[in-house]
Amino acid sequence: MDQISSLMRNGVNTDEPVLLYSGDHQVYWVGSEEASPFRCNAYLIVDGDVRVLFDPGSTMHHFPQVKKRVASIIPPESVTHIVLHHQDPDVSDSLPEWVKINPEVTLVATPRARVLLPYFGFPHDVKWLDASPNDNTVLELPSGSVLGFITAPFLHFPEALTTFDEASGFLLTGDIFAAIDPAWKLLVSDWETHWRSVVPFHVFYMASNRALAGYIDKVAPFPIKAILPQHGSVIPEQHVRKALEALRELPCGVDLLYPASNLESAISALLK
Ligand SMILES: [Fe+2]
Ligand SMILES: [Fe+2]
Repeated sequence: MDQISSLMRNGVNTDEPVLLYSGDHQVYWVGSEEASPFRCNAYLIVDGDVRVLFDPGSTMHHFPQVKKRVASIIPPESVTHIVLHHQDPDVSDSLPEWVKINPEVTLVATPRARVLLPYFGFPHDVKWLDASPNDNTVLELPSGSVLGFITAPFLHFPEALTTFDEASGFLLTGDIFAAIDPAWKLLVSDWETHWRSVVPFHVFYMASNRALAGYIDKVAPFPIKAILPQHGSVIPEQHVRKALEALRELPCGVDLLYPASNLESAISALLK
């Protein structure tokens, strides 16, 4: 039985890091306990001496908890890479603390996020790995697999990033597939109920259905075993295809905020 199925069966203790994938390549949830339903998930991948932290969060609200959870798995100074799926403060504000812990760490971000990230307050001469908008950037891991970096334009940052972890089949999506749910659980059990907490976030944060559908078409061919968003809950394999199809059809952002005029609607109705 895979790790997520066994967590679904036996329960999850989010007072500790949660192992989501095990073996010589491990994936952990290292997120925080938060009173706000706008809670943030950080993740850690340990693959030999490559240790990759994703979206570590803000200094005041997340850093002490995320650092403590990382420290219970590996020495925090052994984090070799930090992936910033975009540069919002709930994702990236704690970067100066992490760079202090390991000044040799490599930051992975898209070029447009890289322009903005140093404003959180760390030296420009840190190490960077630019995740190309051409979606051909990978990080090779000691186990022989790769992390593939896939951009998600205008979802919601103009050059937002996501990551496909080949070994686990996990798609780490940043704000895409985020959910705001006061009754938060780490793992989605009922998709139809969970979808109701996914829709409002996407309607107001994501640019348009064209952007969502374009991204879903890019990632749908991947053998996705789970979706790991930065807010909300991990979507296990049995719900992945439903989740992709649902998001592909969702109108959002400018589709709704700049509706067609009555005249445009009338003309398109006449021309049907
Ligand atoms: Fe964001
Ligand atoms: Fe976010």
